[in-house]
Amino acid sequence: MNAPQNPKANPKTFHVKSFGCQMNVYDGERMAELMAAQGMTAAAEGEAADLVVLNTCHIREKATEKVYSDIGRLRKGAREEGRAEPMIAIAGCVAQAEGEEIVRRAKVDVVVGPQAYHNLPELVAKAAEGISALDTDMPALSKFGTLPKRRKVGPTAFLTVQEGCDKFCTYCVVPYTRGAEISRPFAELVDEAKALVDAGAREITLLGQNVNAWDDEAGTGLHGLIHALDRIEGLHRIRYTTSHPNDMREGLIRAHAEVEKLMPFLHLPVQAGSDRILKAMNRSHTRDSYLKILDRVRAARPDIALSGDFIVGFPGESDAEFEETLSLVDAVGYAQCFSFKYSPRPGTPAAEMRDVFVPAEVMDERLQRLQAALNRDQLAFNQATIGKTCAVLIERQGKLPGQMLGKSPWLQSVYLGTEAKIGDMVEVEITGGFGNSLTGTQVVRAA
Ligand code: 5AD
Ligand code: SF4
Repeated sequence: MNAPQNPKANPKTFHVKSFGCQMNVYDGERMAELMAAQGMTAAAEGEAADLVVLNTCHIREKATEKVYSDIGRLRKGAREEGRAEPMIAIAGCVAQAEGEEIVRRAKVDVVVGPQAYHNLPELVAKAAEGISALDTDMPALSKFGTLPKRRKVGPTAFLTVQEGCDKFCTYCVVPYTRGAEISRPFAELVDEAKALVDAGAREITLLGQNVNAWDDEAGTGLHGLIHALDRIEGLHRIRYTTSHPNDMREGLIRAHAEVEKLMPFLHLPVQAGSDRILKAMNRSHTRDSYLKILDRVRAARPDIALSGDFIVGFPGESDAEFEETLSLVDAVGYAQCFSFKYSPRPGTPAAEMRDVFVPAEVMDERLQRLQAALNRDQLAFNQATIGKTCAVLIERQGKLPGQMLGKSPWLQSVYLGTEAKIGDMVEVEITGGFGNSLTGTQVVRAA
């Protein structure tokens, strides 16, 4: 098939590239479904597409510069292969934060914010007529109602239940790029969850920047939604992420004891171990109140795997304050974590604290020490799984012939030899525990 002369005039194939968090992955999938509903097809892996959507992340580091270099690379690739340039759409949080500047500087065809991507087909149609189109509105009305139905998904699927953030941690851009907290309606979510299960999902991860702030007028709370999903036949596993300590309600903690489908895993970012830094971050919890929540969660579900996010080198963080982060890590014993160097985000209050920025070398050293402690604990957690028998949901093929890769209830990757297929749940005895994964053998029950 010959490529059209000018893919921009009539884009037929598309490619969506998502960066950053799981919500971007979800949004990327929904944008792909939108384009498919317009009659466009997804370009094969590695093949040039007529329309490229860069679904960007703005949370850390040189996000904006990366977008410009990606745009440059796309155009250069087309030139070198003698193709016309693809239509380029910038979506996600960089689009929201820097949309007009991107249009001015890089002359991209479409810029669309995370709350406006249901308008993508319209924007693409405009761009096809040569009108560069920008939509970074944040309408109160939810975009979700206008998106096409879910059709085919893998065994694990994401479901965005809540978006935005009202917490305003002083380092974070999310309240500015994703807007105020909104919860999607209960009935719409139960319908989408059912559609996902009909389309092949065995596990659903509920997503939100503050997922445990999800609520409705009846005060159902995230635990009420989880109880409703528990009743969906064919759904085996429920997860949720990311939670804020302040929204960890009693009902949700109890759900970990009551709902078998709710997996024993909690991602509850703490960010730092010093109360002074937590206050400067505007976290509105203390080290102690955080640890007390974990005690309650552990009482409800003793085998729960804990996960968190950390920032090292927040402006003004002293050596002694950083040591408090390390001692908190020792006190918790996390199963896995994410840790980052503080990165000033334009427009956030912490970015103004220039006179107390932590030097880069100090930041590097702290991150290394923190990650060494977290890796140590992750390995210990994985090794403690050896000898246990647990259900594994098969997600994809492994690298070796006959090998499959699945997830344990505690979100560990498990490699095993099995004839089971993607989407199957198998009983596995864990035989090996490593830094990032487990190995196991399938337990064959006597007939
Ligand atoms: N610098 C470094 N890390 C950050 N995060 C959010 N904003 C910043 C920033 N400015 C981290 C937090 C958050 C995770 C998603 O990203 O740890 O929980
Ligand atoms: Fe950002 Fe804090 Fe909101 Fe999380 S809770 S999205 S870190 S402002």
